[in-house]
Amino acid sequence: MSSVERTAPAPALASALSKTAAAIETLLDALLRNELEAGEIHRPARLLAAMRHGALGGGKRLRPFLVVETAGLFGVPAEQALRAGAAVELAHCYSLVHDDLPAMDDDDTRRGRPTVHKAYDEATAILAGDGLLTLAFDVIADARTHPDGETRAAIVLLFSRALGLGGMVGGQMLDLAAEGRFGGDGTAEKLGQAEIRRMQAMKTGALLAGSVLIGARLGQADPERMAALERYGKALGAAFQVADDILDIEASAEQMGKATAKDDAKGKATLVTALGLDAAKHERDRLSDEAIAALAGFGPEAAMLRAAAQFSAQRQS
Ligand code: IPE
Ligand code: IPE
Ligand code: MG
Ligand code: MG
Ligand code: MG
Repeated sequence: MSSVERTAPAPALASALSKTAAAIETLLDALLRNELEAGEIHRPARLLAAMRHGALGGGKRLRPFLVVETAGLFGVPAEQALRAGAAVELAHCYSLVHDDLPAMDDDDTRRGRPTVHKAYDEATAILAGDGLLTLAFDVIADARTHPDGETRAAIVLLFSRALGLGGMVGGQMLDLAAEGRFGGDGTAEKLGQAEIRRMQAMKTGALLAGSVLIGARLGQADPERMAALERYGKALGAAFQVADDILDIEASAEQMGKATAKDDAKGKATLVTALGLDAAKHERDRLSDEAIAALAGFGPEAAMLRAAAQFSAQRQS
């Protein structure tokens, strides 16, 4: 593949991504209104505003795109795929709101705007994250996401495993621990390469791979296709986080919409620290090729997923 192809995201991908992003924005906006659902008592205005700040008006919306494109392989109706995609995005936004808190990465800017705890306050940001995560499961549990209760329960299970103790939340714990902040004598055991890969597979890879699996499960994919898509999602997720770590070094804050050059200052364990910049770039590209190779059993219908793997590695924001 030429370097030109590696740096320019395909126009078809860019337009498909922005189309899905617009549909997700509309859906999230509708979900985050001061309109009560059955069983609710009252939606506090400050909390709702903070949740809207954390979820609306930004982001690449890559995770919903993966849900929608994977579900599309199996002919899943658009409304179902978009609702599942919105749920995944709500959970992702919660993870960002909490990731940015002073007690975690302590960031002031996200998606080109003040982080939720800066725009509101810390307690409101914690609750906004809680509210976004809970709403994500509300959306999945709703019969409009899939008429069959067994399918909805299967998606709840995939989602929970991606997000929880053995997934994203566990990975965030390992990420913070690797800074050395919990070491008894204040010094961190430097993580080895395998441990860094595991930590990244959890904090970032699990929800990206989970998005693919949720799309596949909505479409009742057979076990063989499910396994191929899982390989794809895991490799894409790994490529995505190595790219994030490289962009932290090479990109500007304006370009990223968040502060850069923060990982080194905080003593974060990344594949760049373990391998060096050049080898990390090579690994990022190898992982995106691995993701594409996992789709060998699919035809042209998986073109957008192949492009999404390339984008995850080559993105500039
Ligand atoms: C940022 O995710 C957090 C990581 C997992 C590296 P994204 O880069 O997908 O952020 P948005 O959603 O586009 O803002
Ligand atoms: C974030 O990783 C992973 C999650 C939010 C789960 P980072 O801490 O590297 O993400 P950024 O760089 O703040 O977006
Ligand atoms: Mg973090
Ligand atoms: Mg962070
Ligand atoms: Mg980062």
